[in-house]
Amino acid sequence: MSPPNLHPAPLWDLRLGDCVEGMRALEDASVDVVVTSPPYNLDIDYGTFADNAARGEYLEWCDSWANQIRRVLKPEGSFFLNIGASPKNPLLPHQLALRLEPLFRLQNTIHWIKSITVKTRQGEQVSAGHFKPINSRRFLTDCHEYVFHFTHRGDVPLDRLAVGVPYAHKSNIARWSHTGGQDRRCRGNNWFIPYQTIRSREAQRPHPATFPAALAEQCLKLHGLRENMTVLDPFLGIGHSAIAAATCGAARFIGFELDPVYHAEACERVAALSAPTCGADPGLFD
Ligand SMILES: C[S@@+](CC[C@H](N)C(=O)[O-])C[C@H]1O[C@@H](n2cnc3c(N)ncnc32)[C@H](O)[C@@H]1O
Repeated sequence: MSPPNLHPAPLWDLRLGDCVEGMRALEDASVDVVVTSPPYNLDIDYGTFADNAARGEYLEWCDSWANQIRRVLKPEGSFFLNIGASPKNPLLPHQLALRLEPLFRLQNTIHWIKSITVKTRQGEQVSAGHFKPINSRRFLTDCHEYVFHFTHRGDVPLDRLAVGVPYAHKSNIARWSHTGGQDRRCRGNNWFIPYQTIRSREAQRPHPATFPAALAEQCLKLHGLRENMTVLDPFLGIGHSAIAAATCGAARFIGFELDPVYHAEACERVAALSAPTCGADPGLFD
């Protein structure tokens, strides 16, 4: 894919208020990429939003915003939906994915890995990422969330190599003709993206349930960066998707956030982006 003429900074549209109401004012088929993480209905203390509805009520509410996303998403657009579970609610992400089945095709399922232990080629066991242990004899500590990649028809071409990785065994470059001699292969659907290490949550990440900007950035690059790209996040939080949109040269970013404190924080973060640069890979170790 040829490099598009990217914008130095998006036209920002960060709105305080309900996203369902807000999205009603957007034009049909006007958004290239939606990257978002709604409340998971796991009783998180969000300040304004009550995250503890009955499951049926929650899923009905999801219908209301998902219908708006379907309407505003361009025919070739991508909708990346980040959602996690809890040990006591392991099926929630799948229930939501099934619920959205009449509206979208599930084109890809990505696993966002927050913490992992691997054995290196030297045989050393290495742990990386942010591990938040739970005290339980029943449940494993949950180290991942889902990113469901929905599209209208399941046939949106992607820029897989934009988020690709080098071959571990270089002999594969010549062995497989589809490489075209390039040392880059598809990354696959396990994405290890740790949170940035912070000293003070209150000061540096004042929100109980965020995703790293690098996660949204990888989604945007996978969809394929293009000129005049419009990115939407109906559940903006403190603005990590907005930062990713700027990094990726989006022309326009629209975000909605119900809570005035988070909205103000997102606006501050966006204002601080004077000269967005291409995001570096997050470091491996916490
Ligand atoms: C999981 S958080 C998103 C966090 C965000 N991805 C980040 O990294 O900062 C969900 C957010 O949706 C907001 N929210 C809940 N209901 C909303 C609604 N109807 N319209 C807009 N925002 C809403 C909550 O206040 C919360 O900040």
